[in-house]
Amino acid sequence: MAFSESFLQELADRNEITEVVGGYVKLTKRSGSNLFGLCPFHSEKTPSFSVSQDKQIYHCFGCGKGGSVINFIMEIENLAFRDAVEFLARRAGMEVPDDRPDESRQRRERMLALNRDSARFFFRQLTGPGGKAAQDYILNRKISPATAKTFGLGFAPNSWDTLTSAMKSRGYTEQELADAGLARRGKSGRGVYDTFRNRLMFPVIDVRGNVIGFSGRILDDGEPKYMNSPETLVFNKSRNLFALNLAKKSKSGYIILSEGNIDVVALHQAGFDSAVASLGTSLTAEQARLISRYAKEVIIAYDSDGAGQKASQRAIGILEKLDLKVRVLQLPDGKDPDEFIKMKGPDAFRNLLETTENHVEYRLQRVRSQFDLNVDEQKVECLKRSAEIIAELSSPVERQVYSMRLAELTGVSAEVVGDEVERTRKKLLYRAKKQYERDSTRTVRAVRPAAGTPQYENLRSARAEEGLIRLYYLDPALFDGADISPEEFSSPVLARFFSVLREKAQAHTQLSMASLAESFSGDEISLLTNILNDPSVPDAQPNRRRAMDDYIEIIKSEKQSGSAGDDLMALAQQMRNRKRYGG
Ligand code: GTP
Ligand code: MN
Repeated sequence: MAFSESFLQELADRNEITEVVGGYVKLTKRSGSNLFGLCPFHSEKTPSFSVSQDKQIYHCFGCGKGGSVINFIMEIENLAFRDAVEFLARRAGMEVPDDRPDESRQRRERMLALNRDSARFFFRQLTGPGGKAAQDYILNRKISPATAKTFGLGFAPNSWDTLTSAMKSRGYTEQELADAGLARRGKSGRGVYDTFRNRLMFPVIDVRGNVIGFSGRILDDGEPKYMNSPETLVFNKSRNLFALNLAKKSKSGYIILSEGNIDVVALHQAGFDSAVASLGTSLTAEQARLISRYAKEVIIAYDSDGAGQKASQRAIGILEKLDLKVRVLQLPDGKDPDEFIKMKGPDAFRNLLETTENHVEYRLQRVRSQFDLNVDEQKVECLKRSAEIIAELSSPVERQVYSMRLAELTGVSAEVVGDEVERTRKKLLYRAKKQYERDSTRTVRAVRPAAGTPQYENLRSARAEEGLIRLYYLDPALFDGADISPEEFSSPVLARFFSVLREKAQAHTQLSMASLAESFSGDEISLLTNILNDPSVPDAQPNRRRAMDDYIEIIKSEKQSGSAGDDLMALAQQMRNRKRYGG
């Protein structure tokens, strides 16, 4: 059952968009009724993410994402439409109209049940008579039975159909097994076979305790070493972390971020109960946000090899944005946490944890190691590069402390270093300000959504269609008696926007983005937001009517001529329109 229009409208009214978004993004007031901030959906240094109080929509000029407050919550909290509605209703203390679970919810629940049953099945295989090889492997890697149990480790036997037949006998279909990524279709298309074979199985459990997927490590030297469940209805790798279900209960106040599943298991076993790992990919912004809900500090414990160091640098950048305190552990010569603990013991690891300085220190040391301080030019270069790192710190006290440290390190007077740092900081601020100004004067026109950008077949007509949609959203009454129908549009998606808007406008008085969230995909909503946000809407009523007439004429003549439309002409036309109606 869909929610009523009036309910969605009230939901949007009671969840003022700048307040809701403000809970995730630091927004600052700028011109008009728009607020700006750093986009939470892509990585950027200067704000191109805007929230409009008038229109109650958000829009990013950089990545093209946009929509209503409901789309925002769907996107940032990784929720389906319904769940986002419930989330916002809770926030505003509203009751959600009660209805029965929809079909996709049922499919989700089935998949979670299948995953849970499979995890239990793998667990039984490990402890049962056929699990000897896997048990030996676990012992070999110094994982205790208690730890194995905590993580729910299991074993997928070296067979094509053990899991598949067990789950089929429990009533799951081959299709369900394939959808969950636990089985694959054979070449012939008939029948399925087990995805995971001869592997030590790590269930991936989300913070609510659902088994959402699996990682399987091969027991011998076979390839690939690790296999993960594919993305499914319930498994999104970039929005979950291995062992966060355990780490979230830790009292330590920090999260240890490592690379490997075995590392996480070894860390927990050694008493470091806040270790997590990303799921075979590099850290994402969503994962960082997830972490920030549970801790204020992250200690990166990646492999000390080159790849690990690179990954650390990347992760620092992502984590810092969320105001998380970041430290980076330096493990000796090519070791990962598992190997380190095995070699030196938990106390040595704790010692490392406690003595590791924050990432500024880490970055300074990295820079210093690249230069020979006995050579004057190199010393100067090292100073400059270090000053850039210190100059980025917003706290003057911190800048001073690290300047002094740097002075000691290089043998240059603290005063000189301090001056260099402050000069560099002024430069950085100036550059950031310029960039900000450039970003904020850039028009929307230049940017279309990165995802879901339609390839317009007839650009000239499509721009006119976009124009009509803009006008219609703003002023449906304008279209009373207007001679245009969606069938005349050249772009199917624009035609759909237009007809849904018209449908809604005819049934109700007020159009809102909130009530559109259910009718369109995220990409479509982003495109629509982008179109609506284009500033080229005339203010005055007569101008609007003229614009509408022009747009309609363009659409009709394009349809008649059937021409593919010349991009340049369309652009020129648009520029003329802009001039004429004031953009
Ligand atoms: P061990 O060799 O068992 O100690 O593994 P590890 O836990 O130290 O993992 P490693 O450092 O080799 O890899 C780190 C992480 O990268 C793993 O936990 C996996 O998530 C991922 N990974 C490693 N190898 C593969 C692979 O072959 N395929 C995929 N998809 N992921 C892998
Ligand atoms: Mn390892």
